[in-house]
Amino acid sequence: MFNPVSPQGLAISNVFILTLLIAAVIFALVAGLVIYIAVKYRGRPGAVDPEPNFGHTRLEIAWTVGPALILAVLLVLTIKAMGESDPASSDASARAANVASGQQASDQPDIVVIGHQWWWEVRYPGSGVVTANEIYLPTGKRMLVRLESADVNHDLWIPQLGRKMDMIAGQPNYITLEADVQGVYPGACSEYCGVEHGKMLIRAIAVNPQAFQSWEQQQKVAAPAPPAGGNAAVGAQLFAQKTCISCHAISGTAANGRAGPDLSHLASRQTLASGVIPNTPKNLADWLKNPQIIKPGSYMPNLQLTDGEVQDLVAYLETLK
Ligand code: CUA
Repeated sequence: MFNPVSPQGLAISNVFILTLLIAAVIFALVAGLVIYIAVKYRGRPGAVDPEPNFGHTRLEIAWTVGPALILAVLLVLTIKAMGESDPASSDASARAANVASGQQASDQPDIVVIGHQWWWEVRYPGSGVVTANEIYLPTGKRMLVRLESADVNHDLWIPQLGRKMDMIAGQPNYITLEADVQGVYPGACSEYCGVEHGKMLIRAIAVNPQAFQSWEQQQKVAAPAPPAGGNAAVGAQLFAQKTCISCHAISGTAANGRAGPDLSHLASRQTLASGVIPNTPKNLADWLKNPQIIKPGSYMPNLQLTDGEVQDLVAYLETLK
């Protein structure tokens, strides 16, 4: 909230800070008066009760009109910030109008984010890239994002980039994501969605437009083919046999499950289990060994893998750059 990196986030931050300052002044005024009166009129031996005061017209007008004015100013600024922080609906209708007038081939959004219990599917319809739990953004570009849900209601919120927005099955919502400064911006699900709601983290990764393009190119190509020999080759076989493929997709292989995250370029991602642990070979092994310890209630089952099987699977998955 205090460190926005987009015009949308700045609009919200400005109203938030102003409201906080006004509230701080009012708090100091009220608390100061209470302390002053409590000290000045405290009970002393032999003191008589002070004279009661019934009605003070000017004071009463002041404390009615003053707050009303403050609220009116905040209302105007809030309505203005609401417009500035949420250009998505006008972006979406502008695209629809462009398509209608033939200036644009399609009105698809730049990014589609789909909430799942308890992870995020992230799709780039223009390039066909599918990833999970991180949203790459080119700096300085306003990205139109469509939000959906595969199950219950979720809510996407990346505070430094702007407003939050509900993700509702069958009712797509639109949001604008923009980051003007390179960096990694943490976000989280902000709508209670079940036992692992608190472990449904996401991050926006803003890189310069050239770096974004090379990222998209790299994600677009099919997953590297399984190596011919060694642990990784055994791991690739295990992946196909151990029912991993019923839930996960790896492009260029028989794995095309959609219930869990696409793993085609898993090794290029920063985190595992929706932002809960850093993506390291050790953490990946712990996750495969027993996901329920890291994320109790997760739909990733404990497959009762032996340590050897875990090592082979990790060796294979680490090749998926
Ligand atoms: Cu998803 Cu809370």
